[in-house]
Amino acid sequence: MKIAIAGKGGVGKTTLAGLLARRFADEGFRVLAIDADPDANLASALPLDDERRIVPLAARTDLIDRLSGRDGALSPGLILLNPDVDGILPEIRLSWGGGHGLLVLGWHKGGGAGCYCAENAVLKRVLGSIAAGPTDVVLLDSEAGLEHLSRGTPDAAEVILAVVEPGQRSLETAFAVRDLARDLGIHRVFPVLCGARDASDEERVKHGLGDWPLLASLPYSEEIRAADLDGRPPVIEPAMAAILRSLIHTLIYLCPVEENRR
Ligand SMILES: Nc1ncnc2c1ncn2[C@@H]1O[C@H](COP(=O)(O)OP(=O)(O)OP(=O)(O)O)[C@@H](O)[C@H]1O
Ligand SMILES: [Mg+2]
Repeated sequence: MKIAIAGKGGVGKTTLAGLLARRFADEGFRVLAIDADPDANLASALPLDDERRIVPLAARTDLIDRLSGRDGALSPGLILLNPDVDGILPEIRLSWGGGHGLLVLGWHKGGGAGCYCAENAVLKRVLGSIAAGPTDVVLLDSEAGLEHLSRGTPDAAEVILAVVEPGQRSLETAFAVRDLARDLGIHRVFPVLCGARDASDEERVKHGLGDWPLLASLPYSEEIRAADLDGRPPVIEPAMAAILRSLIHTLIYLCPVEENRR
């Protein structure tokens, strides 16, 4: 199952991606988490197996240049948008939670140094090339906003979770995510509420969503806030674990995964 997480800035995408990745892992699934946000921070939401400095994909300029044809294989200014990424995953994959995968796009260039077209092309092809086998679940944490959907980065996703917070603007972004996802042929797009403080928050969001049903609601959590302040993955408290377990089971129902556990 390939799940992309999208939405307005700061609504809780990375928090949800980290919690879901850990919960899927606890349920016995083999997970590959992908941080597709150049301003990367998914790694801080996961228990890494090796705390050494993370080398993001964007910093692997030799590899990106070779894959994209920027190493001289193409005329200057041209890049391959369909690079051959066969077999590169083990080379660029980090490890968390005792052997689960993490791929970090990251950030490397200086101000004014250009776009991340080649890096995003590699990421998109990697996501598209992951087949059933060593990975059961791929979770893609996206950058804020809509550009990644215009680029088609998550076009291999089967499900998109459009994260919303209590607030009208995040709902507008979620509706735009749904429209752009449909353009990519992705029809399983579900809103997930993060950070509701009470039932009234949830009711107002549900009202704003109209006939688009909320898939799950992760309440505001002091532990999540404290963990972010400390720069560590949050402890998953029992109530949050139950919500995540239910969300996972709903996702499996909506998008069956092969019974191919560790
Ligand atoms: N359920 C929650 N309870 C309390 N705080 C939360 C909750 N979810 C997210 N937060 C906090 O909200 C802030 C933004 O969360 P997060 O980084 O996950 O959002 P994001 O959508 O990934 O942001 P960006 O668009 O910058 O990537 C963080 O400080 C995070 O700790
Ligand atoms: Mg984020």
